[in-house]
Amino acid sequence: MIDNKPRVFVGRRLPQEIIDRLELNFEVDLWDSDMPPDRESLIEHISKADGIFSLLTERIDEAIIESSPSLKVISNMAVGTDNIDVASATRHNIPVGNTPGVLTETTADFAFSLLISSSRRIVDADNYVRAGHWKTWGPSILLGRDLFGATLGIIGYGEIGQAMARRATGFNMKILYNRRTPIEPIDGINASYATVDQILLQSDFVSLHVPLTPDTRHMIGARELSLMKDSAILINTARGPVVDQEALVEALRAGRPERAAIDVTNVEPIDMNDELLSLPNVIIAPHIASASVATRLKMANMAVDNLIAGLSGEKLINCANSEVYDK
Ligand code: GLV
Repeated sequence: MIDNKPRVFVGRRLPQEIIDRLELNFEVDLWDSDMPPDRESLIEHISKADGIFSLLTERIDEAIIESSPSLKVISNMAVGTDNIDVASATRHNIPVGNTPGVLTETTADFAFSLLISSSRRIVDADNYVRAGHWKTWGPSILLGRDLFGATLGIIGYGEIGQAMARRATGFNMKILYNRRTPIEPIDGINASYATVDQILLQSDFVSLHVPLTPDTRHMIGARELSLMKDSAILINTARGPVVDQEALVEALRAGRPERAAIDVTNVEPIDMNDELLSLPNVIIAPHIASASVATRLKMANMAVDNLIAGLSGEKLINCANSEVYDK
């Protein structure tokens, strides 16, 4: 409990138990809506805040950071922090909190669900039945691709990439992975290191698990897509801009890769005129990989923990720019 409660701006309606925890510790300025604040309102509210409880829809850039002379902590309810100008926060000595770990398994579950749904054409099958096309059992109806024995290429082999590999192990898949820094073999996972190009050339499924940074923006473009097998499936639960979406439209239209299943798009929500929506060989989900009841509650609590620590003058429990503490 903090005396002289600091003021915290909360960018969205949250479960009551989270609001209760926030109100116990802070003077809460709640944006009481299921839609994010517009930029003008964001600036107006943040200008009076000591802390921000932000969501990945809020772009917290330098202008926003500088709009509040009293800002001490930014706590993002997400593991990714690409919606925040972290370098600017660091320059202003503001720690940025995030929520790693608690969403790892839930996110990997969803990435693997996309993989199965796409390879076994579950969305197509449901649409087929509802449209009244189910007239008989047919030897060639809704044929998909096998998972067992297939090669899964994981690009970005951090916690979520490794959780994906554990799932693939259970399906007897061959696993290739790529990551920037080498890693010791992990017990129970038989995965081989490969370059990104080797992964694209050899994999039946390619799953992306890198953070969005200047280095990973459009890391999968026309050239990379053209390396994939005709029969391959691309899974993206990372961030939309990791893939060049225009190139993806062209590649899927040409049938190489055969399919994609994505939870993230270059602009979110996707523009309803986006050509991706006209293609039958892509599954698109609305950025819900971490959306389980339990995990979203854990993420929100973790974001509150970070705010409490930061506004009590302690180090954030999970900090995306811990170099602020080295100054
Ligand atoms: C979700 O995408 C997250 O970064 O937590």
